[in-house]
Amino acid sequence: MLVASLLPILFTAISVQAQPVERGIFDSVGVLDDVLLFDAPAFPDPANPANTLVGLQAFTSLRQIDLGVLTAAAQAALKAIGLDVGDKISTLEERLRLFGAVGLPGKNVKVDVGGCNKQAQLPGTSGLPDLGMALQNVSVGACGSGKELIAKVALSRLDSRKFTASVFSSPNSGFGVISDIDDTVKISNVLDKLALAKSTLLDDPVPVAGMPELYASLSKSLNDPQFIYVSGSPFQLYPFLNNFIDSAYSASKGPIYLQNLTLIDIEGLLDFANSDGVQEYKVSMIDRIHGMYPNKKFLAVGDSTQKDPETYAEAFKKFGGEFMACSWIRRVEGADNSDARFAAAFEGVPANKFRIFTDEDIPSLKNIDVAGGEC
Ligand SMILES: *[C@@H]1O[C@H](CO)[C@@H](O)[C@H](O)[C@H]1NC(C)=O
Ligand SMILES: *[C@@H]1O[C@H](CO)[C@@H](O)[C@H](O)[C@H]1NC(C)=O
Repeated sequence: MLVASLLPILFTAISVQAQPVERGIFDSVGVLDDVLLFDAPAFPDPANPANTLVGLQAFTSLRQIDLGVLTAAAQAALKAIGLDVGDKISTLEERLRLFGAVGLPGKNVKVDVGGCNKQAQLPGTSGLPDLGMALQNVSVGACGSGKELIAKVALSRLDSRKFTASVFSSPNSGFGVISDIDDTVKISNVLDKLALAKSTLLDDPVPVAGMPELYASLSKSLNDPQFIYVSGSPFQLYPFLNNFIDSAYSASKGPIYLQNLTLIDIEGLLDFANSDGVQEYKVSMIDRIHGMYPNKKFLAVGDSTQKDPETYAEAFKKFGGEFMACSWIRRVEGADNSDARFAAAFEGVPANKFRIFTDEDIPSLKNIDVAGGEC
């Protein structure tokens, strides 16, 4: 209902806002453009381990000046379904910012990564359907030993803006943690549309109690694992989610993989949680992670609201228990937590390779010796 009422109004706002602009293809980033550079994982080049590859992703869009039309339309749509924006108007505007962004194709994004000796070049950003998006493994040459490196988009000398992101460098060995976000590490209420709209568009994000401490503890017990957050949320929520992880989960920062959803899919803003494709998408992201780190072992953490049990079990069957070493599923009240569901999801996965936990269990999870093979 919410989505249906939000949709036409947002579309009108967007088409009013988007002015067609003549541009050359294979252009560099200019003062009329905005760039969103995503935090990215780095891994040793299989062809030459002295060389580092970064799975770099950027979104280039037309620079925006005024979001007033979009925000006012969204505010009216939310009011119509009983959600009063009140004094959260600037929060709403900030969260919606990228939903009003007009992606630009054919932009070449050049990125300098601190401590590495080669500039990364992302090839031209994509046309439809992933308008403005670019993702590629790029070589940054030899890098220093830092775990978190700062990447910065190279701009013309006249442009004093800064577009930066973190690059998390990790060897192809040891441990990693694959984690969902909504209702696993952050209270989102994906099962309740109105509450989801509120937590996504208006409220300050709230961590699931005990999870920041658990992840901080894992970051020690698993000896600096590569954390990678894999969420079904649209990439337009990246700045919001990234700020949340950086502040609430400062001991377990890592790249965040989100879905490419274009304006046509803006209903995905609140429908992402229930979209049928989310399992397939998440398995393909785990595939990507496996491609970078085939010799790492992963602890996968998710919850029972969406398809995490089914997803992690599918990944276990695809990549084996050496890679998918352990899966933990948070039991969320109101979701399908039946024995039958978990039995069907984890059919073929040994019982000592997964665990369903309640909120009361969270403090004791840190005592499980995952590094030693327990789960
Ligand atoms: C997003 O779009 C880019 C560019 O087309 C593509 O390479 C990438 O795989 C897409 N990501 C997802 C999660 O589909
Ligand atoms: C990046 O490299 C990894 C490992 O070689 C591979 O699995 C993955 O498909 C590559 N990704 C892209 C976007 O080329």
